[in-house]
Parts: sequence; structure tokens; C-alpha cells
Amino acid sequence: MKTIITFGTFDVFHIGHLNILRRARALGDRLVVGVSSDALNLHKKARLPVYLQDQRIRIIEELKCVDEVFLEESLELKADYIRRFNAQALVMGDDWRGRFDHFSPLCDVVYLTRTPTISTTSIIETIKQN
Ligand code: CTP
Repeated sequence: MKTIITFGTFDVFHIGHLNILRRARALGDRLVVGVSSDALNLHKKARLPVYLQDQRIRIIEELKCVDEVFLEESLELKADYIRRFNAQALVMGDDWRGRFDHFSPLCDVVYLTRTPTISTTSIIETIKQN
């Protein structure tokens, strides 16, 4: 049983999120997703997500390609989460390329190409402009 782990905010769920989750799941037998907490986002981006954590978690856990979801409460705990879920691979979009290489003694680290032209930030901007 190969467990894959990935992390993200997944705010205003979009096709880029679906694509990476499906592709991550296809690399193994079980996909575990760490959904970052509201507090973490407030700290990182100086704003709350549009969808708060309970709703973001509920959306992700209903996806067919996702087996387990947990709340990521600290950016410093990734190694603990990898061990806790016994993950054999950490998968992230390639906007993170190189930033998680130091986890390679614990598990494979795989960066997948981002879906072009869409992001939560661009959706929020489009809505604002319209
Ligand atoms: N992702 C992707 N393709 C996109 C957007 C996101 O593959 N077009 C991936 C990211 O690389 C990450 C995961 O989806 O591994 C969660 O990303 P997240 O930061 O929640 O989404 P973004 O749309 O990038 O959000 P933001 O604009 O707020 O940074």
C-alpha cells in the first residue's frame, strides 16, 4: 500500500486543485491531504481564506480521489505528518519546486506541473474586476 501525501489551502476549489489531487492519487494507493488551517493562511497571506477550513475540508473529503483529510496546523510539522500517515511520497505543484527537497530522506518528493492559467488568487481578482 503506497500512501501519497499533499498539502494546500484549496480555497475556492477549482480545476487546478482537482487535477493535482487526481494525479497525486494515481501515483499510489491512498491519498492523504493536509488542508491548511485558517490561522495558518491568515499568518502566511495576511487574509483569511474565502472558504473557512471546515468547508474546505468537507469539499476535499468528498472527492473520489481523496482517502483521508486532516487539518494542517503548522508549516513546521510536515515531517511529522509524513511520518504519522506513513507516506511514501510527498506531492506538490511545481510552484513549490525545490522547496520540499529536504524531505527526501523521509519519502519521495514529487513536483507535478501546475494546471496553467488558474489559481485561487486569479479567480478572486476576476470576481473583483467584474
Ligand atoms: N495547483 C495546481 N495548479 C493550479 C493551482 C494550484 O497544480 N493551477 C496546486 C498547487 O501547486 C498546490 C495545490 O494545488 O500543490 C494547492 O494549491 P493552493 O495554493 O491551495 O491553490 P492556488 O490556486 O495556487 O492558490 P493561491 O492563488 O491562493 O496561491
